[in-house]
Amino acid sequence: MRITDDVRYIGVNDRQIDLFEGQYPVPDGMAYNSYVIIDEQIAVLDTVDIGFTDEWLVNLERELEGRLPDYLIIQHMEPDHSASIARFTDKYPLAKIVATAKAFPMIKGFFGNDYADRQIVAVEGFKLSLGKHNLTFITAPMVHWPEVMVTYDEYDKILFSADAFGKFGALDSEDDDWACEARRYYFGIVGKYGVQVQALLKKVGGLDIKTICSLHGPVLDDNLGYYIGLYNTWSSYMPEEDGVLVAYTSVYGNTRRAAKLLADKLEALGNKVVLTDLARCEIFETVEDAFRYSKLVLATTTYNGDIFPFMKQFIDHLTERNYSNRTVGLIENGSWAPIAAKKMREMFEKSKNINFTDTTVKITSALNDESMAALDFLAKELTN
Ligand code: FEO
Repeated sequence: MRITDDVRYIGVNDRQIDLFEGQYPVPDGMAYNSYVIIDEQIAVLDTVDIGFTDEWLVNLERELEGRLPDYLIIQHMEPDHSASIARFTDKYPLAKIVATAKAFPMIKGFFGNDYADRQIVAVEGFKLSLGKHNLTFITAPMVHWPEVMVTYDEYDKILFSADAFGKFGALDSEDDDWACEARRYYFGIVGKYGVQVQALLKKVGGLDIKTICSLHGPVLDDNLGYYIGLYNTWSSYMPEEDGVLVAYTSVYGNTRRAAKLLADKLEALGNKVVLTDLARCEIFETVEDAFRYSKLVLATTTYNGDIFPFMKQFIDHLTERNYSNRTVGLIENGSWAPIAAKKMREMFEKSKNINFTDTTVKITSALNDESMAALDFLAKELTN
């Protein structure tokens, strides 16, 4: 596939995968993108997952039209992009390997060889001319591993962005809503590293970018302000939309009834509301919603002197990704010694700028007049 006259897509679609990185369900598959720039010299940008090496090498050969690649540029060493390096280096022994200093020990770790005689170490701002195409390498540590760099092609004004601006889903899927699966990908995989994403956005902010070529998802070539704007919001941990996520666990339905009643009250007051059962949802869809909306209500039972396991895991997912800048309301249930609200609050102790509502709803086994009145207060407080 042609991106420009000289820049070609040689990536692959993975339709066999069920869990990306061992934990993210990908019902629409996954794309491992790879690109080749055909110029006086030829550069290949990244390889693909081990299950697709043969298909990728065929794609590459088709674009090479009998020529040989001069460089393999390795932007990221996670195996979804790096696993085919050894097959490439065996097949093209004259090609130089361009990567950051942090990448070469990883190459040795994965393949037992760091190709010392073929290394070109890309330091910050390092430039490589292929002829017309002058490439500049920009380090992007922790977006999403420490060795990551992105590549700017001045000639075609393309930013090869590594994992940044990636999304779940194969390129031949029907999904044309970029933000939904890009947001789930971002918060699931890169969400902890907002500071580093902000640093990268600042570094590339002065570049004239016409096209973004990520290692996952579609090539982005119009309305780039939309995608960059979302990345800026996400990485600064600010809400994307006003709205309330009500996330609950329920053992016998009493906590569910409270959560549902609150959701109904919030909707009646004009709020956008998402109601989620943490035992039955795709947890990273709910993590995505927590970061998407401005307010969060957590409803759970006291369990083993702590909180119900699905809720504990959910809050861990949020706090380890630096969840901050949000309003949080709590609903607890307990038949003899309810302490769920206290335990949930403690879990956010290290989180920044969490504003707990004045109202905390306490349910003793089942809703009664008092707890229903508290739900009213909470709904009103979350609406103001
Ligand atoms: Fe697509 Fe961090 O690998």
